[in-house]
Amino acid sequence: MPDQVSEDVIEEIRKTNDIVDVIGEYIQLKKQGRNYFGLCPFHGEKTPSFSVTQEKQIFHCFGCGKGGNVLTFVMEMEQYTFYEALKFLADRSSVDLPDFSHQHKSSISQENQSILSASEWITKLYHHLLRYTKDGKAGYQYFNERGITDETIDVFQLGFAPNVKDFTAEFLQKKGFHQQILVKSGLLSLNEDNSITDRFRGRVMFPIRNHLGKTIAFGGRTISDQEPKYLNSPESELFQKGKILYNFDLAKKHIRNQSEAVLFEGYMDVISAYQAGVKNAVATLGTSLTSSQARLLRRYVDTVIICYDADKAGTEAAYKAAGLLQKAGCHVKIANMPDNMDPDDFITEYGTEAFQNQVIKSSLTFTNFYMRYLKKDYNLSLEGDRIQYIEKLLEYLATIESSVEREYYLKEVSDSYNVSMDSLKQEIQSNREKMGLGKDKINKNRYTNKVSDHEHVKKLLPAFHNAERQLLAYMLQDVSITDKVQEEIGASFNIEEHKVIATHLYAFYEEHQQADVSMFVEMLTDDRLKQLVTDIAMMPLHENISNDEINDYIRNIRAENNNKGDIQSLKEEQRRAEQQNDPIKAAGIAMQIIELQKQWKSIN
Ligand code: UTP
Ligand code: MN
Repeated sequence: MPDQVSEDVIEEIRKTNDIVDVIGEYIQLKKQGRNYFGLCPFHGEKTPSFSVTQEKQIFHCFGCGKGGNVLTFVMEMEQYTFYEALKFLADRSSVDLPDFSHQHKSSISQENQSILSASEWITKLYHHLLRYTKDGKAGYQYFNERGITDETIDVFQLGFAPNVKDFTAEFLQKKGFHQQILVKSGLLSLNEDNSITDRFRGRVMFPIRNHLGKTIAFGGRTISDQEPKYLNSPESELFQKGKILYNFDLAKKHIRNQSEAVLFEGYMDVISAYQAGVKNAVATLGTSLTSSQARLLRRYVDTVIICYDADKAGTEAAYKAAGLLQKAGCHVKIANMPDNMDPDDFITEYGTEAFQNQVIKSSLTFTNFYMRYLKKDYNLSLEGDRIQYIEKLLEYLATIESSVEREYYLKEVSDSYNVSMDSLKQEIQSNREKMGLGKDKINKNRYTNKVSDHEHVKKLLPAFHNAERQLLAYMLQDVSITDKVQEEIGASFNIEEHKVIATHLYAFYEEHQQADVSMFVEMLTDDRLKQLVTDIAMMPLHENISNDEINDYIRNIRAENNNKGDIQSLKEEQRRAEQQNDPIKAAGIAMQIIELQKQWKSIN
C-alpha cells in the first residue's frame, strides 16, 4: 500500500470505476442471476468460470483461483504496480490523483519507457508532415489516390517518413534520446560502416498501437517500388507480433457491442473497412494468426468473421486461422469475397454498401467455406475424384453436433452430386460411430463445466470446513453476524487461513462499521488470502439467514475444535505411554485415536 495516496482517494477511485465496466473492457461478460460470467483472462479456458459480482465489486475465477477487486484486476491484467493501477483507473474516471509517480517504481523498464516516448514523438511528427507540410505531400497524395479521407488519416495517425537519411535520427537526438536505444527499437538502423540512419525512408507510415492505444511499432509502405512493400519494426519486448492485433484498441468497443469481430490480413484492409463503416476490424501483423491472438479475440466475442484475400494464399491462411479460432472456442464465418480480390480492392471498386451487405453480412458458414475449400484437391469432373471428395466431406460433416445442421448440408451434397439422402445419412452415421460420437453428450458437458467442478470440490470438504466458509461468507456481508461469531468463538476457526480472515474482519469492522468486501480485500496484503476471501464471498447465500443456521455452523466448528482437542490429548497420553515403555497401553490409545478419527469422518 502506498503511504502517499490517501485512503479517501483510493476509495473514490474504487467507487468511480465499477468493476463490471472495467472488466467488461477486457472480456465479454454475460449476466447470469446476480453475477456476471466470462472467460478468464488469466488462464486459457473455453467455458466461463470467471465471475464478477457488481454488488460486492469483486471478481473470482473458479478455474485458476485468481480473485480480488477492481485494482487487483487491473494490476494483474496490465502487469501494473499498485500505483500504476490507481493512476490508470483515476484517469479512466477523471479522478484527480496527486502525482507521486517519481516515488514509485514503474512496471516498464527505463529503456522501454524511452522507446514508447520516442514512438509517440515520431507518430506525431510523421502524421504532421503528411497532413500539413510539403515534405509529406507525396504520402498525402498516395492515400488520397487510394480514397482515404483526412478524417481516417487522423484516426489512424497515418504519416509519412521523408526520404532523407537522418531526418528522424536528428529529430530524436535533439529531443535527447539515446541512439543505441532507438536502434534497438528499430526506429533507426545501424549500418555496416557504423553510421546510424533512419529505418523508414520515403514510406507512408502506419503506427501500430497496443490495446491501450500507445504506439509500440510502425509499418511503413513504399509509395514507389522499393522492396519490401511493407517494412515493419522488428520484434521487441514491447512489440510481439503474435500477441497483438492491429487496431484492436479502437475496434474493441465495436467488437463488444456487436459481439463480432472481423479479422483482416492487412493494415490497408482494416483502414478501408473502418472507413466503410466496418469498425470492428482488426488485422494480424504480416504473420499468420497465432493461438494467443485467437484466445484474445475469444475473450471478447463469440463470432469472428475472417476476411482474407480471396486468392490461394489467402484461402489457405483463412482455413488455418479458422482452425485456430475454433480451437479457441470461436464460432467462425468466412467473408464472401469474390475470387482474387482483397477487401480493400473490393471497397474501392464496389463501394461501402456492397462491402457491408455482399461481403460481411453474406459471410459463409465455416462448413460452406470448407466445402468449397476442399474442392481444390480434387478434379470434380472425374467420377473417382468426386466420390473421394464426397467421402472426405462426409468425414467432416460427421463431426457436426447438431443433426439439423448436418441434414442441411447433406441435402446440399445430395442435390449437387445426385446422391440419395439415405445413403449419405448411413455413411454419416457409420462415420460418427467410428469417431465415437453420438450419445455421450452429457458426459462431455460434465467435463467442460468448470463451475460444477467447483461445486463438486466443495462437497468433498469436511462439514466443519464448509461451515467455516459459509459462516465467513455471511460475516463478510453482515456486521451483526460477525459480532455474534466473535463473541461465541472468537478466532477459534479450525482452518488456519479462516482464523486469519476472521481476525482481520473483526479489526475491519471495528474501524468501518459496515460490510464492504472489496474494501476489505484491499486491506489484505497476502495475495492468497485476497483470493480466498473473494472465493468465499462469491458463495451463494440465503437472503434471510436464520439464527439456527448460524448456530449450526458455530456448533459444527466448536465440535471440530473439541475433537481436535480430544485427539490432541490422547496423542500426548500415547507419547507418555511410549516413553514409559508401555507398548500395550500405547497401542490401545492408538486404537482409540483411530476410532475417534473414523467417527468424525463419517459424521462429516
Ligand atoms: P498484402 O501484400 O496483402 O498487402 O499484405 P495489402 O494489405 O493488400 O496492402 P496494399 O493494399 O498493397 O497496400 C498484407 C499484410 O502483410 C504484411 C503487412 O502487414 C500487410 O498489411 N506485409 C506484406 C509485410 O509485412 N511485408 C510485406 O512486404 C508485405
Ligand atoms: Mn491491398
